[in-house]
Amino acid sequence: MAKYTKSLISFPILLHTLCFLLFPQPLLSQDNDFVRQPASQLIITPHQRSNSDPQQVHISLVGKDKMRVSWITEDNEAKSVVEYGTKEGVYSEKSMGEHTSYQYFFYNSGKIHNTVIGPLEPNTTYFYKCGGLGPEFSFKTPPSKFPIEFVIVGDLGQTEWTASTLKHVDKSDYDVFLLPGDLSYADSQQPLWDSFGRLVEPYASKRPWMVTEGNHEIEIFPIIYPNGFKAYNARWPMPFQQSGSNSNLYYSFEVAGTHIIMLGSYSDFNVESQQYNWLQLDLAKIDRVKTPWVITLLHAPWYNSNEAHQGEGESMRQAMEELLYEARVDLVFAGHVHAYERFTRIYDNQADSCGPMYVTIGDGGNREGLALKFEKPTSPLSLFREPSFGHGRLRILNETHAHWSWHRNNDTNAIVADGIWIESLSNLKACSETPNNQVAHEEL
Ligand SMILES: *[C@@H]1O[C@H](CO)[C@@H](O)[C@H](O)[C@H]1NC(C)=O
Ligand SMILES: *[C@@H]1O[C@H](CO)[C@@H](O)[C@H](O)[C@H]1NC(C)=O
Ligand SMILES: *[C@@H]1O[C@H](CO)[C@@H](O)[C@H](O)[C@H]1NC(C)=O
Ligand SMILES: [Fe+2]
Repeated sequence: MAKYTKSLISFPILLHTLCFLLFPQPLLSQDNDFVRQPASQLIITPHQRSNSDPQQVHISLVGKDKMRVSWITEDNEAKSVVEYGTKEGVYSEKSMGEHTSYQYFFYNSGKIHNTVIGPLEPNTTYFYKCGGLGPEFSFKTPPSKFPIEFVIVGDLGQTEWTASTLKHVDKSDYDVFLLPGDLSYADSQQPLWDSFGRLVEPYASKRPWMVTEGNHEIEIFPIIYPNGFKAYNARWPMPFQQSGSNSNLYYSFEVAGTHIIMLGSYSDFNVESQQYNWLQLDLAKIDRVKTPWVITLLHAPWYNSNEAHQGEGESMRQAMEELLYEARVDLVFAGHVHAYERFTRIYDNQADSCGPMYVTIGDGGNREGLALKFEKPTSPLSLFREPSFGHGRLRILNETHAHWSWHRNNDTNAIVADGIWIESLSNLKACSETPNNQVAHEEL
């Protein structure tokens, strides 16, 4: 295993080191003299439990008060049962689930278990055990009302920077983890999905992780695996049926007064597509009294002033931006570009106080390094940008106010490097008019 990954990574790292020695990296310092973080080593997280023990445990929200527990066993006899309760070591409840597995060329996955548990009380700690064996895990359910805090970070990967990001995330409490695509960077090397599952287990077994797909999840192989997403769909099932979607690649869910739309950058999105149709219906169902906040996540950014991946989200923006704008979506988070960038509120390439605020947060810790170059001259729509690893936090205080912050990784401390207060569009009178009557078009 170690040998196999070495050949995978040592060459690029060597090349990177060589380039670094030959051409010292330009410091793109924009607001300080912080030294950019270079790419770091891949971490392989070995399987250290017995074959019948659960591994790669992670949880995700299902409906109003349920949780899906997902895990993998090497042993095919292991049962898909979750025992749980609110006291350590005492399991008053028990649910049976389903299992699946998949094959990718010569790789056969372990037994993938998915068990939905609940109804659960909000804002409550539960203790649980998977398959009747192995360690006890625990999680806290999100609150049913504000305040609620989301951690948001994309392009996670499994490097030393990933480990550092996750440690920083864990240092202060939050309720739900949102990931706008690019999880394991397995890129068809299936054992890396298992390694990723083990790396994130301490975090993903404790708080719900809600994800959408990135390009590194595609794993299409012509003729043999023409549809892709085999590993992703088997390992990271999301509650798409509950929102009327027919694909794990796009869905929505609600938690504590927030409607969250997970779009699929790598699923058809044009006007005739099922995704477009579903999005239209989903937006029409939103009740801003019940969920005053509406946020969207997707992988390839619609607004991006980095030289990396320029224009890749453009056709999706052209197809769907108007829908989000008319529905007064508050915030759109993307990944893909390995840097942090915050924009103003925008509609159709213009500052618009009734459009969503756009954020790129693709700086979780991938193995490809940072996207160092931003376009010059700087777009007036882009208010803050920095190529450093880190994570974001969205703390929704109440119906009207939320605080967004970006936390740069800095070895031992996560430094708060950017922060802004946001008001929900559901609360802004000027934006409750129909969008076409021009009230909206004013500079912020
Ligand atoms: C959740 O529980 C904690 C402590 O048990 C409490 O301080 C907090 O106010 C609760 N949050 C909500 C939104 O109910
Ligand atoms: C919401 O929170 C903000 C920030 O703390 C505060 O100024 C505002 O008064 C609160 N609004 C309501 C309705 O509680
Ligand atoms: C970042 O970490 C270094 C080393 O731990 C420390 O010296 C420096 O003060 C930190 N930077 C900031 C902005 O806190
Ligand atoms: Fe990506």
